[in-house]
Amino acid sequence: FSMGKIVIAIDGYSGCGKSSTAKAVAKELGYTYIDTGAMYRAATLHFLNNFVTLSNPHEVEKALKSLDISFHFNPETEKQETFLNGLNVENEIRKMKISSKVSEVAAIKEVRKELVAQQKGFGKKKGVVMDGRDVGSVVFPDAELKVFMTANLHTRAERRQQELLEKGEMVDLEEIKNNLGERDRIDSSREVGPLIKVSDAIEIDTSYIDFEDQVAQIVDQAKKIIEKE
Ligand code: DC
Repeated sequence: FSMGKIVIAIDGYSGCGKSSTAKAVAKELGYTYIDTGAMYRAATLHFLNNFVTLSNPHEVEKALKSLDISFHFNPETEKQETFLNGLNVENEIRKMKISSKVSEVAAIKEVRKELVAQQKGFGKKKGVVMDGRDVGSVVFPDAELKVFMTANLHTRAERRQQELLEKGEMVDLEEIKNNLGERDRIDSSREVGPLIKVSDAIEIDTSYIDFEDQVAQIVDQAKKIIEKE
């Protein structure tokens, strides 16, 4: 697929399958996948490791200076993994300890400013699928294809519980529902880069459709746009 490259922005609520969808779309198109949520999660881990007082902008700014996030493809697992200051933190950042703190960190404007700048850099050459909350609204408002994913809370919680279980963490369904609901609330109501559905995004409700179908829907749209580029 050698025609013009585009930017694909996938935003939506916590746990509706954005990242697995984005990964599959990127693979089909030969694009790079960027998980912006992983960046907020890595920042959260960095702040916890350094005992940063989130309400203190000086401490936050200082910690941001020593924050180095990168992604590396692991040929063994065939997965892209997140690194924080040279250490593989892929598993650690998915744990509940981080999930329950990340929305608070992601609401800090200095944090968003820094991570959005890095995300813009990652997508400069296009040919990327980026998923998050504000990709289509703030990071790439000119993205050629924008997708807004939703799913009902129960479905999302069940999927997330399964994912955690596969990683060896057993968490009560109610606790997961509360965490997802609370993150949606904070992510949608914050002042900087809140989660919103922009008017030029196509909405996909993933509650009842097949994973393959939702991937195909996005890939088809992308190919149509790429052909016209
Ligand atoms: O996609 P995720 O669940 O891994 O994201 C973790 C948190 O990071 C999410 O609750 C809100 C925040 N986030 C954000 O504020 N902006 C983004 N572009 C991506 C994630």
